Amino acid sequence: MKVVTVVGARPQFIKAAPVSRCLRRRETEILVHTGQHYDPAMSEIFFEELKIPRPDYHLQVGFKTHGAQTGEMLSGLEEVLIREQPDWVLVYGDTNTTLAGALAAAKLQIPVAHVEAGLRSFNRQMPEEINRVLTDHISDLLCCPTKTAVEQLASEGIFRGVVQVGDVMVDAVEFNRALANDRRILEQLGAKRREYVLVTLHRAENTDDPDRLEEIVSALNELESSMILPLHPRTRNRMERQGLTFTNSRLKVIEPVGYLDMLQLEMNAAKILTDSGGVQKEAFLLQVPCITMRDETEWTETVEQKTNILVGANKRKIIEYVETFHVDFSKAYPVFGKGHTAERIVELLRKNGGCR
Ligand code: UD1
Ligand code: UDP
Repeated sequence: MKVVTVVGARPQFIKAAPVSRCLRRRETEILVHTGQHYDPAMSEIFFEELKIPRPDYHLQVGFKTHGAQTGEMLSGLEEVLIREQPDWVLVYGDTNTTLAGALAAAKLQIPVAHVEAGLRSFNRQMPEEINRVLTDHISDLLCCPTKTAVEQLASEGIFRGVVQVGDVMVDAVEFNRALANDRRILEQLGAKRREYVLVTLHRAENTDDPDRLEEIVSALNELESSMILPLHPRTRNRMERQGLTFTNSRLKVIEPVGYLDMLQLEMNAAKILTDSGGVQKEAFLLQVPCITMRDETEWTETVEQKTNILVGANKRKIIEYVETFHVDFSKAYPVFGKGHTAERIVELLRKNGGCR
C-alpha cells in the first residue's frame, strides 16, 4: 500500500508523527510538506525532535491569502499525486493544507482519509470550519476522535467510512511524555512547577479582529499571575501592525517552542490560557485547568466536564477565571481514547484500500 501524507502546519507535524512511524513499518509513505508553516521553530524543529522523515516533496507555498495559498497547494499536490498514484491520501485536521490535500485527491478519484473528522465549531467565520466541513464531505475514510464527531457526521448524512478511532494526540502525548520530562525549559526560564500560567494565542478570530486582540493583550498586561507565552508569528505580526505591546513584567514572551518543551511547559503549568485547539486537548490529557479565549469550541466534552471554560475575548472574564478557575480532575472521564489510534488508522487504511 502506498499512502501520500499531506502536512504543512505545526499541529499536523505533531499528529502525523505517530501515524507515520506506524505506517512505515510495513507500508510505503510519501510525505508532502506544503510549506504553509516555514520558520524553523514552526516546522523544522518538529521533524527533528519527533524523528519525522524528511518530506519527499516540499511545495514551499508559504503565507498567502486563503485562495492563493490553497490554490497553489492544490496545483502542486495534483502534480505529486499524478506522479505517485497512491492508494490513499492522508490529511489531518482543518488547515488550508488539509483542504488542498483532500480536494486534490478527490478530483483525481484517489481515496481520502481524514484524521480528526467530524469536528465542528458551527462558526462559519472560521477558515478552519470551512476546511473541516468540505474535507469531511469529500473523504472516504473519516477517522473520528470522539463519539460526538461520529454523531455530527451522521447528522450531516455521512455514514460511510466513519470510524471512531480515538485521538492521535493521545498517542503523541504518551509517546513523548517521558522525553518531555527530561527537557530543561522550566529551568532555563526560571519557572517553577504550578507557579505559572501557560498562554498561547494565534487564532485568526482573535488576532485579526483589532478589538478582540486589544482586549486580550490588555488582559495579559493586567494579570497578576506569572505567565509564559510562546508567541505564534501570526500574533507577533498582528500586534506590530496594530502597535500593541506587552508591558507586564510577569509575562515572559518567548519564541514558539518545540513539542517536547511545550509538553514540559503544559504539564507543569498551574493553568493554561489558550485559543488553540490542540492545546485545549493537551490540557485535558495532562490534567491542567484550561481557560479558552474563544466563544465556542470543537472540543465540547472538555467544557461539559468543566475542565475547560470558554471566556471569549472578554478581559474581565479572562482575568477572573485565570485567578479563580479550579478543576477536580478526579471526576473527569476519558473522551479521546486510550492511545493506539495510529495503529487503528493504519489498519483501516489497509482494510479499506482503494474504496472510492
Ligand atoms: C494555521 C491554520 C490554523 C492552525 C494554525 C496552527 C489555516 C487557515 N489556519 O494558522 O487552523 O491553528 O495554522 O498554528 O490553515 N507565519 C510565519 N512563519 C511561519 C508560519 C506563519 O511568520 O512559519 C506567519 C505568516 O506570515 C502569517 C501568519 O503567520 O502572517 C499566519 O500564517 P498561516 O499559515 O496563514 O496561518 P496560521 O495563523 O499559522
Ligand atoms: N505547540 C508547540 N509549540 C508551541 C505552541 C504549540 O509545540 O510553541 C504544539 C501544541 O503542544 C499542540 C500543537 O502545537 O500540540 C497545537 O498547535 P497550534 O496551537 O498551532 O494549532 P491548533 O491546534 O490550534 O490548530
